[in-house]
Amino acid sequence: MKERETFASRLGFVLISAGCAIGLGNVWRFPYIVGQYGGAAFVLIYLVFLVAMGLPIMAMEFAVGRASRKSIIVSFQELEPKGTKWHWYGWFGMAGNYLLMMFYTTIAGWLLMYFFKIAAGQFDGLDRAGVEQSFNSMVSQPGLQLLFMVVVVVLGMVICSRGLQNGVEKANKFMMLCLLCLLVVLAIRAITLPGAIKGLEFYLVPNFNNLMYDAQGNFRLGEAIYAAMGQAFFTLSLGIGAMAIFGSYIGKDRRLFGETISVGVLDTCVAFVSGLIIFPSAFAFGVNPDAGSNLIFITLPNVFNVMPGGRLWGALFFVFLFFAALSTITAVFENILACWMDKWGVSRGKAVAINLVLIFLLSLPCLLGNNLWSGVKLLGMDVMSFEDFLVSNNLLPIGSVIYLLFCCLSKKIAWGFDGFLAEADQGRGVRFPAKLRLYFTVVVPIIVLIIFIMGYIEKFA
Ligand code: ALA
Repeated sequence: MKERETFASRLGFVLISAGCAIGLGNVWRFPYIVGQYGGAAFVLIYLVFLVAMGLPIMAMEFAVGRASRKSIIVSFQELEPKGTKWHWYGWFGMAGNYLLMMFYTTIAGWLLMYFFKIAAGQFDGLDRAGVEQSFNSMVSQPGLQLLFMVVVVVLGMVICSRGLQNGVEKANKFMMLCLLCLLVVLAIRAITLPGAIKGLEFYLVPNFNNLMYDAQGNFRLGEAIYAAMGQAFFTLSLGIGAMAIFGSYIGKDRRLFGETISVGVLDTCVAFVSGLIIFPSAFAFGVNPDAGSNLIFITLPNVFNVMPGGRLWGALFFVFLFFAALSTITAVFENILACWMDKWGVSRGKAVAINLVLIFLLSLPCLLGNNLWSGVKLLGMDVMSFEDFLVSNNLLPIGSVIYLLFCCLSKKIAWGFDGFLAEADQGRGVRFPAKLRLYFTVVVPIIVLIIFIMGYIEKFA
């Protein structure tokens, strides 16, 4: 049997896992959700979820991956007691990876398109309405979007086709290092803009009133908490085995909780600094931070338009966003390819060829949902929002609880805490907080369940 691939270095593992975590969730979703839910107070709740739930669950995913040396469809089967059915979830988790990519490829295509548009000066001289019109005309034309979506899918697959070390690891290392440098440069530019201080205040000084009530004075604390939890799971790509796969490629010389902390810190830094770029810029140029999911597409070109050297800063900003998105795409593609290789024994090349076509086809509904299929509504949502809802609000939290219960319940019915702990604590580094077992086994699932139900009620009531 062919030996399983491994990373060339520990840095490669940390950066690729961080690359999987760092994506649209940090640079697009985080700022707009923080803007919608009133700034700093929301950030605090989000951080609580990240530390109290996200990080321990990530360590559990890594442990399942490392102990089984397999991807999500097969990993549960390797570790579960005979006769149990944990492996059923593998298929849902796999579907979650595809669903995530079904809208991610379109948005990544927009980012690439924006890079070219800004660099070519196509927004020069446009006012806000002009930029909005340009965005709307971009999404209303399937042709151009299709081209960029195809470029994204092909680029991601070409990187993955070169193998773990030569493709995914090398590309992610490069993109992550560029991204971290760009981030610092852009943040310094943003916070030194005249008038930036108001944005910093909105972002960094908690105002609980903003969190609890929307602009019309409606109480929305439950919805905000639900959004904070969803964002914590989304940003760490938890619950669909996208992290577990990287656990399956590492050795046993490091304890997993320490590695998790490194990945979590990198992810949080990128999200936090993205806010430091976006809010000061928005406030400095009179742009409303609660513009929603179009925040970066409609409002930021206005900012770059009136900023000295705006074309350069704008182009750099969209390269930065694109790298963040592509690092997640290659990581999730790797997970999908590994599933095909593990489950059906196909070669990497064959898995790439099949999934290139499959992901292209699966990306079409989202792309068409903005134009030809704009009349299609699923549970009252357009196609993109519906796909995002299925993954972020359902599969990620449910999958996270499944990983958690698999690792924490008794070994008669699951992998069991002892097996998990022995795996997580192998090697050097920070130990897993084993004393909190009861909290993980009982409290976390209950909290997730309550917030989950509350969120549904608020969303659909
Ligand atoms: N974790 C990925 C992101 O933040 C899904 O975009």
